[in-house]
Amino acid sequence: MARLGVIGCGYVGAVSAACFAELGHEVECVDTDASRVAALRQGRSPIFEPGLEALLRKGVERGLLTFLDSYPEQFRAEIVFIAVNTPGSQEGAADLRAVRDAVSSVASRLVPGSIIVNKSTVPIGTGDLVAGMARRSGACDVSVVSNPEFLREGSAVTDFMKPDRVVLGSADPCALERVAALYAGLGAPIQRVDIRTAEMIKYASNAFLATKISFINEIAAICESLGADVTEVARGMGMDSRIGGQFLRAGLGWGGSCFPKDVRALAHMAAVHGTHPQLLRSVIEINSDQRLRIVQKVRMALGELEGARVLVLGAAFKADTDDIRNSPAIELANLLRLEGAAVSIFDPIVGHDAIAAAAPHVSIVESIAEGADGADALIVATDWPEIVGMDLKQLGATMSRRILVDTRNCIDADAARNAGFGYRTIGRPRQEPDYAATTFGEAVSMNAEQPALRGSAVGNAGRDPWLVR
Ligand SMILES: NC(=O)c1ccc[n+]([C@@H]2O[C@H](COP(=O)([O-])OP(=O)(O)OC[C@H]3O[C@@H](n4cnc5c(N)ncnc54)[C@H](O)[C@@H]3O)[C@@H](O)[C@H]2O)c1
Repeated sequence: MARLGVIGCGYVGAVSAACFAELGHEVECVDTDASRVAALRQGRSPIFEPGLEALLRKGVERGLLTFLDSYPEQFRAEIVFIAVNTPGSQEGAADLRAVRDAVSSVASRLVPGSIIVNKSTVPIGTGDLVAGMARRSGACDVSVVSNPEFLREGSAVTDFMKPDRVVLGSADPCALERVAALYAGLGAPIQRVDIRTAEMIKYASNAFLATKISFINEIAAICESLGADVTEVARGMGMDSRIGGQFLRAGLGWGGSCFPKDVRALAHMAAVHGTHPQLLRSVIEINSDQRLRIVQKVRMALGELEGARVLVLGAAFKADTDDIRNSPAIELANLLRLEGAAVSIFDPIVGHDAIAAAAPHVSIVESIAEGADGADALIVATDWPEIVGMDLKQLGATMSRRILVDTRNCIDADAARNAGFGYRTIGRPRQEPDYAATTFGEAVSMNAEQPALRGSAVGNAGRDPWLVR
């Protein structure tokens, strides 16, 4: 058993602390957010993360987890993990203020022979900065290790306990082995590298995953133009072991607390060090265009957005988390509002205050039924099970118009059509024409509309309009 410290008890810090306690270590945690610490002391999770609360409660009850809202005079821990937030700045660079504050608070309170482990995602070179800060603070014999975290919100506990790999970087081989020993029981490969390489592995991994998503969204747009089905294209690609199926789901684009800031930070780092990050910039641009493409898709389905009543289903950036930082769902709701739609939003988990702060001009509803009543369109933005399994027949009966835009391709298409919905997806061949494309200003079935479109829209009777548009 080791004595550990964790600074910052958010998604990464709270999960790491709870999991280290579960592995039998004694963990001393500090967070400057007193209300968060008060909840944690009672074994309550301040965030929605499956499995976390049970581990926290157990750790507190066993006396292995302690939480402080200010720094102790001296740490008992000899290995202290920094897990504070590193948000993006307006320019794109990572904002290191919380890391600097944490390191300056920690360094002078360590016993000789301690290790500062950086778990926060930090720009390449931050390990050297931390070592310099520790030296200047008078801390003697303190080593620095980089240990980037790869957990995913929504499956963070499992990801921590069963990682694909553990990455450790340090100039001090003894410190590196002491940290490696903490992970020895997890059965994952441990990659030992220098500190800058460890820092870079994290950024490169997130940038690559974001690239996969932007790639499939670009392919989805091409599929829509040419009449192919992106879900099958992705499935076919994913079965190739060189490609892999994960992160190939076309949709609303990437978001959340990490990808947006990390891809921008990497591009920024590259640019200020004289490299032209052409691919990364395209990945970012495709992602922001994707939101706009979906706004246009909703407009086409409805005829016009001004005055239309739409219900955005989901606020979290993905299912199984309450995190709405850079949530594509929130961005979409705000964009639709800017285009004149009357937007309401439903999420089964995210708190109303958080939604109201991020989308102040959008109304929040308690249930899907409440938002659907009188609405013109449902927009699926987060694939919560409650949303995927909603009763479309029942909801449709109360709506003004039955349009369903599924930005996650997660709804059963037959169920949607059987419930009388005009159903729009991402990157799949459409079965019905857009409302805006109809001659008579009302949604009509494909069979009724096809000949008219063939004749009028493309002047090419006999060809499939979806292939020639
Ligand atoms: N969220 C993820 O899925 C994830 C995954 C991998 C890596 N990361 C990285 O891990 C880091 C933490 O991310 P997060 O999502 O857990 O952040 P978070 O915002 O959820 O939590 C950060 C916590 O640090 C606390 N804090 C800030 N300054 C402090 C200080 N000086 N002393 C003590 N506590 C302080 C805050 O009060 C907050 O509770 C970031 O660098 C992030 O990029 C996040």
